[in-house]
Amino acid sequence: MREQYRSTPLLEAELAITPMDQFARWFEDAVACGFPEPNAMVLSTATAEGRPSSRTVLLKGYDERGFVFFTNYRSRKGREIGSNRFVSLLFPWHPLARQVIVGGTAARIGRAETAAYFRTRPHGSQLGAWASDQSTQVHSREVLLS
Ligand SMILES: Cc1cc2nc3c(=O)[nH]c(=O)nc-3n(C[C@H](O)[C@H](O)[C@H](O)COP(=O)(O)O)c2cc1C
Repeated sequence: MREQYRSTPLLEAELAITPMDQFARWFEDAVACGFPEPNAMVLSTATAEGRPSSRTVLLKGYDERGFVFFTNYRSRKGREIGSNRFVSLLFPWHPLARQVIVGGTAARIGRAETAAYFRTRPHGSQLGAWASDQSTQVHSREVLLS
């Protein structure tokens, strides 16, 4: 497979003052571009021994504190962050021939912010979050439905 990349040039003179402001501009471009789930990002975590794992999560907010996603603290990623706070994020904006890579540490946001987000979720998603333990084996569909 071979792709002829066409994208707007990145000129130093046009860069935003801060990386977060630059991210905001590019995120707006990605949303405006209209491709599905521009807020999908690949989160990489690692065990205490440094064995990495990656998965997609959804960006639900960002500000000067960092990038916010929601997950189950008991999931593999949750447990890995518990023992090794260093993580990496990657936004794969292929239709724009762009990616953003973020390196840093992960920390829990406050309980109030988490609860506020939970209340905005559709009922089915709330039930799903309650019913399923992430990263564990589901023994049967019936177990999930009961
Ligand atoms: C498009 C897409 C978006 C996803 N968004 C989330 C998310 O926001 N939070 C989450 O916990 N899992 C999300 N998932 C599921 C994760 O990719 C992953 O399968 C799950 O969280 C278990 O990961 P872990 O076992 O590595 O902890 C998403 C999956 C896809 C395909």
